[in-house]
Order: sequence, then structure tokens, then C-alpha cells
Amino acid sequence: MKICTSITDLRQSILDIRVKMQKPTIGFVPTMGFLHEGHASLIKRARSLDDVVIVSIFVNPLQFGPNEDYNRYPREIEQDEKLCEGLGVDLIFAPTALEMYGADGCETSIHVAYLGDHLCGASRPGHFDGVCTVVAKLFQIVTPDRAYFGKKDAQQWRIVRRMVKDLSMPVEIVPCEIVREEDGLAKSSRNVYLSPEERQEAVHLRKTLLLIQDAAIKGQRDVKQLKSLALAYLADHPLVALDYLELVDGDTLQPCAAIRGEAPTLCAIAAYVGKTRLIDNIELELRA
Ligand code: PAF
Repeated sequence: MKICTSITDLRQSILDIRVKMQKPTIGFVPTMGFLHEGHASLIKRARSLDDVVIVSIFVNPLQFGPNEDYNRYPREIEQDEKLCEGLGVDLIFAPTALEMYGADGCETSIHVAYLGDHLCGASRPGHFDGVCTVVAKLFQIVTPDRAYFGKKDAQQWRIVRRMVKDLSMPVEIVPCEIVREEDGLAKSSRNVYLSPEERQEAVHLRKTLLLIQDAAIKGQRDVKQLKSLALAYLADHPLVALDYLELVDGDTLQPCAAIRGEAPTLCAIAAYVGKTRLIDNIELELRA
């Protein structure tokens, strides 16, 4: 496994691989490091579908707001390298911010319109512009055939898929299932911020989603009713401070007033547990 920190070195290494192998497919897993089993599942999926697997490790300053956790975001590059090596990754790209954006920063960026304004975008203005700008730049550098994203970031992978379509990028976006802890909490690099007490409470994000799922299976289709069920449940768990709970069309992310069987419905939640903002979601099943 080779580790590249410069764009030039990575481009050259990819060129060498393309010359050596017969038209290899390149699978790309973009990450911000501090890798866990969720990332491992993306890498495994890439390993099973593609000839070459490239992982980027880059904590992207553009996608953090001024009061967010950019500086304290967990970084553990040696551990990440070991995990990648064990999973058969071919190349790691781990640039610095200076390498990615230069000393004079980034003049050009990608703006996401409606899709980026609500759900997580409402409380994190500019977040998805930052995500799309770095992902587009990484796609330019890595030139992958497929790129793998976790479904935990339900809005992110849909926005990236839309960017790829809008800008005619020749990349297939592969969304991968959420990996969970035994009690149901979605794996996330940010779980490390939780105190033991907060960790126990964090499971209520998932439990809220399951409550809604259960009510939908029992026939409740009205979004207002489903939301009030969830709010009543969360009222008993004051350590979980809701940012949003929304039921939206699973493709367009447009809010819906009622669940209709013909279109998939996504139920997405974001909440602060202590100071840590966590997200989760479920694609609602309407039958048991
Ligand atoms: O999901 C993430 O870890 C990041 O948003 C991504 C896609 C690597 C872009 O920085």
C-alpha cells in the first residue's frame, strides 16, 4: 500500500497503475479519517467491485462552520493506515490543507441549491458546498469509476449523486448500508466525543426512528402524527436535544405531509447529545 501526500505523486501513482494493469476500475472511498467499521464496510465493498481501491483521508476545512469541531475533529492517521493495509487498500491519499487548497485558498467552489439548504444544511449553512467542492476536487485528482458513500449521511450521498449528474462527472455513486453498534447507534467518528452517560442516551436517535417505523407499519401515514409521537418520546430523554426530525421524499428530499406507498420515504434525524451533533436515518418500510 502506498501513501501519497501530494497531488502530483498520487496522479503519477494512478498513471503507473493504469499502465501496469489492463484498464483497471478504480474504486474510491473519500473519508476524513479516524476510520471505523462504517468506513471499513465501504472499503470492503470497493474491494469487492473494483480492481484498485483508493482511500482519501482529509479533514476538509471547507465543510466546517466557524463554531464547529474542525480543530478537534479526531485524527489518528497511523491507525487509519493499519486498517487500510489490512483491508487491501492500494493507495491512500492524505494531503494537507495547504496541498489541497494552496496558500491562497479556494476561489472557485461548488454551490448546492435547494438540496443543500434544509435538513443538515439548515443548521450547517455552506456545509454541502464545502463537501461538494472537496469531493469534486478529489474526483478530479483520483478519477474513480465508482465512489462509495455511507447511507448514514443520507443527504450527503444524494447531493453528491446529484452533483455528479448535474456536472456530468463519469463516476458511479455507490451508497452503502449504515453500520451500527450493538445497541443500534450508527457508527460515527464523532461518537468518541460522547461521555459514558451521553453514549447511553445517544441510542435514542435510533429508537426514535424505529418508533416511527413501527407506527408506519401499523398504518399511521400522517407525518404530523408521526412527528408528535417522536417528540413525545424524546421529551422523556432530555439529554437528546433535537435539531430536526423530518420525513422527506427518499429521492428528492422534499418534505412530505403523508407517507405514500408509491415513493420511498426517508425519515432523518439530527440531535445534539451533550455538545455532540449526531445524525441517523431510516428508509421507511411500510410492511413488517
Ligand atoms: O463523509 C465524509 O467523511 C466527508 O464529508 C467527505 C465525503 C469525505 C468529504 O470531506
